[in-house]
Amino acid sequence: MTKKLFIKTYGCQMNVYDSARMADVLAPLGYATADGPDDADLVILNTCHIREKASEKVFSDLGRLKRMKTAKQQQGAGDMLLAVAGCVAQAEGEEIAARAPFVDLVLGPQTYHRLPEMIARAVGRPSAGAGGPVLDTDFPAEAKFDFLPEASAPQGATAFLSVQEGCDKFCTFCVVPYTRGAEYSRAVAAVVTEARQLVAKGARELTLLGQNVNAYHGVGADGREWSFGRLIRELAEIDGLARIRYTTSHPNDVDDDLIAAHRDVPQLMPFLHLPVQSGADAVLDAMNRKYTADEYRRVVDRLRAARPDLVLSSDFIVGFPGESDADFEATLALVRDIGFVQAFSFKYSRRPGTPAAVLPKQLSDDVKAARLDALQALLNAQTKAFDQSCVGRELDVLFERPGRHDGQLVGRSPYMQAMFVEAPAHLLGSIQRVRVTAAPSNSLAAELVTDSCAAVAGVPSSLAEATA
Ligand code: 5AD
Ligand code: SF4
Repeated sequence: MTKKLFIKTYGCQMNVYDSARMADVLAPLGYATADGPDDADLVILNTCHIREKASEKVFSDLGRLKRMKTAKQQQGAGDMLLAVAGCVAQAEGEEIAARAPFVDLVLGPQTYHRLPEMIARAVGRPSAGAGGPVLDTDFPAEAKFDFLPEASAPQGATAFLSVQEGCDKFCTFCVVPYTRGAEYSRAVAAVVTEARQLVAKGARELTLLGQNVNAYHGVGADGREWSFGRLIRELAEIDGLARIRYTTSHPNDVDDDLIAAHRDVPQLMPFLHLPVQSGADAVLDAMNRKYTADEYRRVVDRLRAARPDLVLSSDFIVGFPGESDADFEATLALVRDIGFVQAFSFKYSRRPGTPAAVLPKQLSDDVKAARLDALQALLNAQTKAFDQSCVGRELDVLFERPGRHDGQLVGRSPYMQAMFVEAPAHLLGSIQRVRVTAAPSNSLAAELVTDSCAAVAGVPSSLAEATA
């Protein structure tokens, strides 16, 4: 009998990938994904611990789910198993068990290949919920990837592929080294196999994922560790794979090989998320980022020398302990210098157990909020200016899904802009050349260019563009 599974995903793309893989693990047990938690037999919250807000949201969602679970039991409609997975589970497993004893399963990001046996244990208990959750937050010696079934077909023409996990950098604000553990790279053969499977199932674009993806050093068939640049070149050989992206990366792991890949591999898209966090050297030092603002500028210069049309995106933290007005101005100056076209920016959030949480000179929320507003205003203006500069240009779009009204398709430009185009449905999943006609907020409107040879379905005209 099929059972209903609902997974709610918080946080980053790694979690999106993990949620899809949890569904793959559970499919052989008869679990089919449902759109909502209402009558689900199993609800998994795949959580994020990166900032306090994300963490607290889990407990408020659990309160709601507890009421649903109880109602289901009272109606005699069976049980609703509740699982908390991901980084909050990893960091606060015991606290979840204490604060929310009605939760049935608590599992970290490295143990979800063991979900079937955990479910069996939870269901097999004398009374549901007895003794608190079944908890597994190990960092097991075996790699979960070796135990996962083949990835199911991607939802559309784009797919995520996790190639690296964990982080050894220990930025002083960040919980990731504690929740995701030490850096680990999947073997080249495993990555290539999964990439081929995803492409065979319809993916035209792959986004390679890792907390520190460009620190990749997986073992290749030659028994040696391959660099991330070399991995990208290998993946670019896959027939039908038209676009490669990666996220998220660290400036200090941008090596010559990766820069050369940006020059030589036309499938590697000219949009790079390369978080800088701050533009002030004192703050970067206190964050343990291990580069200066000028060193970051130089990395970007080298990347742009290799791929002149590269656009940059970043993460920023404002209001880090001790950040002065002048430090914040230095961040704004860097944003202007680099011309970031996109960014995620956050108020510093004090995370228990991280070194920055106990630094002196913690800033008030008012200061953080004012700086965040100013930074976001600047970033939004730059995004708008870049979008406007695309009006009149011809770009490629990979159509990903139908638009809101009939006859419209939505996709992304090489620069990650959402594009709305009047186009027939059979072009879904293909790359087409379009002319940008307008730049309404946070998107581009465009029309098909029918007289271009690149508009033949299946020919990635970014190749033509890059080699022209
Ligand atoms: N407070 C605010 N933002 C944070 N990030 C990570 N830790 C914190 C924190 N304690 C941000 C960083 C990182 C992104 C994923 O989340 O900008 O790059
Ligand atoms: Fe966190 Fe820094 Fe590692 Fe990124 S590089 S995951 S910010 S510790």
